[in-house]
Amino acid sequence: TLVKQDILKTKVMGHRGAALLAPENTLASIRAAADVGATWVEIDVYLIAEGGLIIFHDDSLDRCTNGSGVTREARPTEVAELDAGSWFSDAFAGEKVPTLLEALECIQSLNLGLNLEIKHDSADVENIVPAVMAMLRDHWGDNNKLMISSFNLAALELCYEIDPQRHLAPLYEEIPDDWQEQLAGIEAYSLNCDYSRLTEAQARAVKAAGYKLLCYTANDPQKVEAHWEWGMDAVITDDPTKFAFLSE
Ligand code: G3P
Ligand code: MG
Repeated sequence: TLVKQDILKTKVMGHRGAALLAPENTLASIRAAADVGATWVEIDVYLIAEGGLIIFHDDSLDRCTNGSGVTREARPTEVAELDAGSWFSDAFAGEKVPTLLEALECIQSLNLGLNLEIKHDSADVENIVPAVMAMLRDHWGDNNKLMISSFNLAALELCYEIDPQRHLAPLYEEIPDDWQEQLAGIEAYSLNCDYSRLTEAQARAVKAAGYKLLCYTANDPQKVEAHWEWGMDAVITDDPTKFAFLSE
């Protein structure tokens, strides 16, 4: 049963900021989510060379910047030079890849909630998790309005070891049979999963067990109409404007 303080006060969470409105995982994208009324954003944190932590989704720099190569091997000084906006549109030319610290400061200045997804090159769990947790300890001291999610259960287990009070959320493409054991082991707050593979029985079981239930990535409200009935608490969407009707 749920022991964590209830922190999720929204039904709509912007995905990678607001990935349909601005270049994903940039400060512009976070601001775009806030501009259209979202009160929470999901962003991805990625470990690069020299222990750098950046807000980025892909294993390669190619799609979302004017650079190229393996993200993990990029140095912070190199990443700082990249343009992460032009690929999306000229209006965002010069937009940078944020550091985790820059994103935390931006999100706090906008008074948003944060779902921080830890990207999961499994070999790196022991490097990325302590670094992320230290950054959060220093820059997001309270447990309010912060959720840490990952597809990598080992990453969340290490988060739990470092600070059992944080609100943790395993991510699943397909919910495994032993999900209950996995969530209990880290005193999880939420289960976050792919809306298109979630079944009604699974959703109802998650809610009956006392957890929050979040679904990604839905950009068409019709596709998750049933999910609200099943108990889904919030939707993670590239375009929060599509779900503005929920707050009317
Ligand atoms: O946190 C939900 C969603 O972001 C997980 O998938 O690949 O978009 O990070 P992805
Ligand atoms: Mg993500």
